[in-house]
Amino acid sequence: MDLELKNATKKYDDDIVVNDLSLTIKTKTTFGLLGPNGAGKSTIIKILIGLTDLNSGEICFSNYSFKKDINIIKRLIGVVPQNRNLIFDQSVYENLYFQGMLYGVKSEKLKNRISYLIDYFNLTDKKKSLVSTLSGGNQQKVLILRALIHDPEFLIMDEPTVGLDPHSRRDIWKLIERLKTKYTILLATQYMDEADTLCDEVGILNNGGLIKQGTPTALKKSFSEREYGTIFEIKTNDISQNKQILDLVKQLSTDISLSFKESGDSIIIYASISYFTIIVQQILNYKIKMIHIHEATLEDVFIHLTGKKIMEVQL
Ligand SMILES: Nc1ncnc2c1ncn2[C@@H]1O[C@H](COP(=O)(O)OP(=O)(O)O)[C@@H](O)[C@H]1O
Ligand SMILES: [Mg+2]
Repeated sequence: MDLELKNATKKYDDDIVVNDLSLTIKTKTTFGLLGPNGAGKSTIIKILIGLTDLNSGEICFSNYSFKKDINIIKRLIGVVPQNRNLIFDQSVYENLYFQGMLYGVKSEKLKNRISYLIDYFNLTDKKKSLVSTLSGGNQQKVLILRALIHDPEFLIMDEPTVGLDPHSRRDIWKLIERLKTKYTILLATQYMDEADTLCDEVGILNNGGLIKQGTPTALKKSFSEREYGTIFEIKTNDISQNKQILDLVKQLSTDISLSFKESGDSIIIYASISYFTIIVQQILNYKIKMIHIHEATLEDVFIHLTGKKIMEVQL
């Protein structure tokens, strides 16, 4: 059951928040919507679950009509919202039972479903605990579990690990790894490593538009038509030396395959790791403050496309 957005545009007054966006999420894949705060992730999710209308464009959900069959579609989708809107002064079980009732799941079936899911999520010993007494990680698990109570096929998660400590984050990642085998997933996140680890396909979103889309591996090799994959970031103590190093790199680029640019007070070279010795030899005579060599990450892709780090965009 594929989900497709075609040329979707959403405005709030005169602000274009989603800009002519097209994407396809294929059955049983995990699609990452990756972008800084304010990029439009939650708005796209609201559009997909029918909470807000498009100004133009189309949503296709398998063979269903988004307008006529919205009630069927809503049953096929489970949503984990960005805000943790649980009932905090009720138990885990009560939260889940209430949600199941809202979806009209029959009592006996609902009880079985809750038992099965609570066990699957390793929350059996928390069943009777008040949600307010749970750790942030466990509350997040309850939120994900709640989204699955009516047995949907499609799971949409909006920033499922935001605000969690590193240990809980890993725990949620492990859970999502397991859910991936059962559901088609749309995962909205501002964390590059999260998208890289969990998603089969990633759409990088900035200012309401997709600026790049592909598998994490393909994106990390997408700095040019050649496949580079390694980043050399160089900083000197003296900005005038940067210029000289840039000249050297320019000359070097006629012999070996690399691309480069200035980013703030750094020089960034995209090349293959096999050029490590050549590049380092070239710059040894300069007073280098820092050289950082690493395999490309999705953060590098974002910097390459926007000239900024994702957190800088959020400031
Ligand atoms: N109901 C609304 N009315 C007006 N502007 C909104 C509304 N909801 C979101 N926005 C604006 O739309 C942009 C995208 O927001 P959002 O979809 O929440 O981004 P993200 O989830 O990526 O952080 C932001 O500039 C935000 O201020
Ligand atoms: Mg959001």
